[in-house]
Amino acid sequence: MADLSKVNVIVKKYSDMKTPLIPILKDVQTEYQYLGEEVLTEVAKCTNIPLSEIYGVATFYTLFTTRQKGQHIIRFCDNAPCYVKGAEDVLEAIKKHLHIEIGETTEDNKFTLESTSCLGLCAVAPCMTIDDDAHGNLSPEKAVAIIEDYRMKGK
Ligand code: FES
Repeated sequence: MADLSKVNVIVKKYSDMKTPLIPILKDVQTEYQYLGEEVLTEVAKCTNIPLSEIYGVATFYTLFTTRQKGQHIIRFCDNAPCYVKGAEDVLEAIKKHLHIEIGETTEDNKFTLESTSCLGLCAVAPCMTIDDDAHGNLSPEKAVAIIEDYRMKGK
């Protein structure tokens, strides 16, 4: 069980605010990496806000995540310019290789696959980022090789 004592510290920090839930959840996510059930239940306890309302906010905003993420975050561009250049085939190859869909994490907790809007890399479409690194001109084979490189080198 995680040490949940920091939740109360964070909640107290925003005690003067009229609607503090979003900043509280932001800080709590920074502290605990994701907004799991245990943590959200503690937020409900400390704020006296119904858990259902907290879940509603935590699942509505894309900046919040209620599931643990993998060691590496793959963000795959799903905008039209990348699709025109073959992104769909690349994405299918990644999903097949990792046995996950968008929004999921591999069983070994190594990779989380997310879709994203334009990465500003249209000139080298199709493209993705892994953590802070950009990868462009992807083919299905190249994308899988790059991902395996992260796994092998324990990057
Ligand atoms: S549309 Fe994919 S990077 Fe711009």
